[in-house]
Amino acid sequence: MADWWDEVYSGPREEIPWDIGVPSEQLVELIEKGEIKPCPALDVCCGTGTEAIYLAKNGFEVSAIDISGEAVKIAEKKAGEAKVKVDFRVGSVLELPFQDNSFGFVNDRGCFHVFAPEYRKWFADEIHRVMKRGGIYLLRCFSEKEPGGWGPCRISKQEIVRTFSNFKISLMEDIVLRGRKGSHRGYMCSMRKI
Ligand SMILES: C[S@@+](CC[C@H](N)C(=O)[O-])C[C@H]1O[C@@H](n2cnc3c(N)ncnc32)[C@H](O)[C@@H]1O
Repeated sequence: MADWWDEVYSGPREEIPWDIGVPSEQLVELIEKGEIKPCPALDVCCGTGTEAIYLAKNGFEVSAIDISGEAVKIAEKKAGEAKVKVDFRVGSVLELPFQDNSFGFVNDRGCFHVFAPEYRKWFADEIHRVMKRGGIYLLRCFSEKEPGGWGPCRISKQEIVRTFSNFKISLMEDIVLRGRKGSHRGYMCSMRKI
């Protein structure tokens, strides 16, 4: 599986549909409003590190993980150029190399929706494990309202509620997920570990 992602990240950057090169407006708005405050943070499926670097620039102590070594190479280079420190790791979100209760914020733009249904509860439990109680998990994923069958899984609100039953959901909104080749219908969901 990592091979497929590595191949994508080895190609031209402008061909990577989700790699827009700027932090998403959803994350920026929450940070600017002070709704998510600097703390130890984890960016899951960090890709080329755009949002991890943005968080580090905004005072977060950031770890970030992606299964693609190629993506992480690009991310480390970008962090160096931005002169920020991010603890980038190559590995799977399903086996996070972090201790229990480590993070006050987990950022997810396009991570949960890469997992087939049989992995989703496992994913949620792993995120829950590494978070501090009261910490925030911010999910952005494709919704079932996005037409077509290509690319990421379409996720319904019910699926989010069911999968993250050991979190308290505080926000669930329809959003537009911007990509290089167009925009897609998605959900943003903010929830706390209870
Ligand atoms: C849609 S991209 C999103 C990347 C990034 N968050 C962004 O917004 O640009 C999905 C990412 O998930 C990564 N990925 C897929 N399976 C993974 C796994 N099991 N563990 C960690 N990362 C994974 C891929 O390498 C890819 O970078």
